[in-house]
Amino acid sequence: MEKICIIGVGYVGLVSGAGLSEFGNEVTCVDIDEERIKQLNNGEIPIYEPGLKSLVKTNYNNKKLRFSSDINKSIKNSKIIFIAVGTPQKKNGEADLSYVYAVANSIADNLNHYKIICTKSTVPVGSGEEIEKILLSKNDTKLFDYVSNPEFLREGSAVNDFMIPDRLVIGSRSNKAFSLMKNVYRPLFINETPIINTSVETAEMIKYASNAFLALKISYINEIANLCEAVGADVHQVAKAMGQDGRISPKFLHPGPGFGGSCFPKDTLALSFLGTKNKLPLKTIEAAIEVNNNQSIRMVEKSILLLDNKISNKKIAILGLAFKPNTDDVREAASRKIIPELIKLGAQINAYDPVAMDNFKNHFPDINYFNSWEDAITGTDACVILTEWNELRGIDLRKLKSLMSKPVILDTKNILSVSKLKNLKFKYDNVGRKISL
Ligand code: NAD
Ligand code: UDX
Repeated sequence: MEKICIIGVGYVGLVSGAGLSEFGNEVTCVDIDEERIKQLNNGEIPIYEPGLKSLVKTNYNNKKLRFSSDINKSIKNSKIIFIAVGTPQKKNGEADLSYVYAVANSIADNLNHYKIICTKSTVPVGSGEEIEKILLSKNDTKLFDYVSNPEFLREGSAVNDFMIPDRLVIGSRSNKAFSLMKNVYRPLFINETPIINTSVETAEMIKYASNAFLALKISYINEIANLCEAVGADVHQVAKAMGQDGRISPKFLHPGPGFGGSCFPKDTLALSFLGTKNKLPLKTIEAAIEVNNNQSIRMVEKSILLLDNKISNKKIAILGLAFKPNTDDVREAASRKIIPELIKLGAQINAYDPVAMDNFKNHFPDINYFNSWEDAITGTDACVILTEWNELRGIDLRKLKSLMSKPVILDTKNILSVSKLKNLKFKYDNVGRKISL
């Protein structure tokens, strides 16, 4: 088992650090955010991710997992260095690699013996070559091998995805690096998880191509859902039957207010940027992005219709702020696009989310927050559901109706029973099934 340093303790770095220590490695996680490191050393987990706390605690207690702010020392003491910092989007859609390159420079300054430098962050094709150049620029001899090891975990099920992945992608030219990486992931290797060894460039492309394809699938079903509404078909039955075809698969065919999160929006933009840069515009990806942007606008239009074009001064409850359930992440969440539009139209917003309210307050400090859906809904003229939390799936519709000023509901995640809503005489709408208002 290997001595590992993970640089960047965010959603990916922390889950990977805990997971790799569970696999038997000795892991030190480092971050420039000293407050975050302090929190972790005090047993506090800075993100909400089911199962993560106990995984971190167990491995921290048996000294397989450490947290440190001393990046230089941690790099020097480790053999495998993972880069897991953010790669947000620039204004033009291109991936911003400044954090990755800053880390590459720190590693270059601390190459005291042979190491594997491995990028887990999602980086465009060609980044590995740039990172190698930085590493070589400060060192006369090549004391490293470079590996691209993209991460496919989803927030909300990150621990499970990391511990039992569908496949591992290891991009490297070096046989030595490949066998060391197999050792890092030894339990997976023993369990016969498919391990795909490619060039660095191919590994980088696999990550973007996978994310963009899933995003494309969502935009596709959202367009079909919109058409279903117009022609009187039921998108759930359509998706279910489509999914029976093994070539299509039933996953990622759930319609909604559009995809959000820290990956799909920025990764589709970055891939599209790469296509254009190489004079090969990716028309399908560009369309998926456009459809996604329109889908959130469509949810605003549905709200306007439900309120008979009179949104000004109406009280609207928003249930669900996170970009998906089981996470506190609000990056690129549908709520961040829809709420400002409703506010622009004069609505007053009451918001509730089981775990994401603190993060949301950083972006929207001035809307009203409530500690339960019941409190958020009380006295409102309409309710919009934006995240499919289990708690919201189980909402008592009679109670909901009794608390609202008017029984008006937009269920963008299709989690409520249409027949119950109908029986209770709600004025309601959803995505992908025609509702006569
Ligand atoms: P994040 O924003 O949650 O965390 C990044 C961390 O890096 C922060 O804690 C930040 O303080 C730290 N950092 C920044 N610069 C640093 C430096 N110079 N030295 C040390 N630490 C530094 O990011 P994330 O969501 O974990 O994503 C990380 C990467 O993984 C991105 O490229 C992302 O596209 C990719 N990815 C994310 C997910 C996901 O579900 N979030 C899944 C797969 C891949
Ligand atoms: C995604 C990828 O799935 C993962 O492999 C990658 O490592 C990181 O990006 P994540 O963003 O955490 O993971 O969540 P995911 O479950 O993929 O959902 C992304 C967005 O798509 C969410 O807003 C979700 O609500 C939406 N979505 C997903 C749909 O609208 N319909 C679906 O059928 C599936």
